[in-house]
Amino acid sequence: MNVPDIIIAIDGFSSTGKSSFAKKVARKFGFLYLDSGALYRGVTLFAQEERLISQIGIVSPSLETALKDLDLHFDGEGRLCMGPRCIEQQIRSMEVSAQVSPVAAVPYVRAWVDEKLHDFGRKGRIVMDGRDIGTAVFPDAQLKIFMTASEEVRAQRRYDELVSKGEQPLLEEVVQNLRERDYIDSHRETAPLRRADDAFELDNSDMSFEEELAWIQGLIQGKFGIL
Ligand code: DC
Repeated sequence: MNVPDIIIAIDGFSSTGKSSFAKKVARKFGFLYLDSGALYRGVTLFAQEERLISQIGIVSPSLETALKDLDLHFDGEGRLCMGPRCIEQQIRSMEVSAQVSPVAAVPYVRAWVDEKLHDFGRKGRIVMDGRDIGTAVFPDAQLKIFMTASEEVRAQRRYDELVSKGEQPLLEEVVQNLRERDYIDSHRETAPLRRADDAFELDNSDMSFEEELAWIQGLIQGKFGIL
């Protein structure tokens, strides 16, 4: 299928399977995939290592200046690196998940991440996932998808992901973290999580990857008149 040079924006709640879906879509259509949440996670890890965030998630104003020297980039395999160090595993830990939402609510952090996202998106042919891609980062994206799934399914997915990485979380802790993040992400002042008016909703609680791919393929064919 010959897909035009568009931006595909995928937003939605935590652990709805946005990144797995976005990666598969990118592979299928020969697009670049970009995980915007990874950048917020990278900034959070940086703030923790530099002791610029307290235990209860209060961010020090010094983070704004410190960000000027922070080098976050993706390597050839799409893994996030901080300078020479690959931090893909650390940014997925419970410690980072527990503090990423307050960090992502800070306006200058959002501006710093947005600048990077705009650079990546300039050439089109990109699938980007996050919370505000279709509403704030690329409001003109030609295809917007808003993903949802039941809380039970999302918590189980996140739990399985953590266990597969060697962590031993409690299911209640995972549920609690999901609820807190959903709340902060959708109630913050700057670019809160919400469905763009022109986004197509995908509830994948009971869908396989094949079904998800068939769904988006049908959507693209219909929207762009591709046979
Ligand atoms: O998708 P994720 O769970 O890796 O995202 C981590 C956090 O980053 C999430 O709690 C909200 C924030 N985020 C955001 O505010 N805007 C984005 N575009 C992507 C993520």
